[in-house]
Amino acid sequence: MTEPQPLALPTAFLNGQFVPVEEAKISPFDRGFIFGDGVYEVIPYYAGRGLRAKEHLQRLQRSMDLLDLANPYPVEAWERHIAELLKRNGGGDQAVYIQVTRGVAKRDFAPPKGLTPTAFMMSNVLARPSQALYEKGLNCVTLDDFRWGRCQVKSTALLGAVLLKHEATQMGADDCVLFRDGYLTESSASNVAIVKNGVILCPPKDNFILPGITYDLMIELAQQHGMPLEMRKVTRKEVLNADEIWLTSSTKEVIAITTLDGRPVGHASHAGKPGPLFWRMLDHFQTYKQSLQRLPAAAE
Ligand SMILES: Cc1ncc(COP(=O)(O)O)c(C=O)c1O
Repeated sequence: MTEPQPLALPTAFLNGQFVPVEEAKISPFDRGFIFGDGVYEVIPYYAGRGLRAKEHLQRLQRSMDLLDLANPYPVEAWERHIAELLKRNGGGDQAVYIQVTRGVAKRDFAPPKGLTPTAFMMSNVLARPSQALYEKGLNCVTLDDFRWGRCQVKSTALLGAVLLKHEATQMGADDCVLFRDGYLTESSASNVAIVKNGVILCPPKDNFILPGITYDLMIELAQQHGMPLEMRKVTRKEVLNADEIWLTSSTKEVIAITTLDGRPVGHASHAGKPGPLFWRMLDHFQTYKQSLQRLPAAAE
């Protein structure tokens, strides 16, 4: 018998109140439940210091603007509530999950005016990938990206991503690398970049990918450290012949994809292993994370 997993760390936030996570209850008429009519964010905090927390809150606002959804709190209030949540959940490294839905209403596709949004937050222990996982890398399969045309919105309507990840895991893979009309988009819950001949190639931030905060940081770090990078459309052929493939997200940070469709990624001595540019990028990333500790913690 497997032990039941806790839903999250013990304290959650619901509409201005801090409550035990098991007691956070919403109406089945919430449009988030009925339609997936809502947005979310996942913000990593390391010993209370947010990694690009402002940028996450800005993206939350952009997602809401694209759905014409009212933000229940100004940035300072979100920051205050997050700091309190981190404190109540014991500090340390936590991933804060924020969800805002359009609120409770009679079931009707057209959103009525003047609804009160539902605001929910929880947090989980943030465990970075283990050294063994960094060295092994991920095993992915390529799949056709059939999601909608507004992937830049971080929406809670995630059925496309759920089905794609389900298909990948049923095939025995860790995750998928997605293509739309022959071009690389991203993964089910991460951005993807490749390396070819020493150049990092990144798909453009259009409406077919989520503009990842970690993706932006990776791009910035590459530029800062003189690693050649091009943001442009990347073909399926280029991905299949890549020297390295990387995946970025707030919880996975940067990790290499070392097997794609059952074949090792890369060539020669690092075929099927993370490549040299990956190790350089991971190093820059960890140094950046350490530099956060010089900043005041969110709860201070
Ligand atoms: C579809 C998708 N792409 C990319 C990302 C990575 O974004 P971030 O680096 O901001 O976590 C996510 C994160 O959840 C995602 O769901």
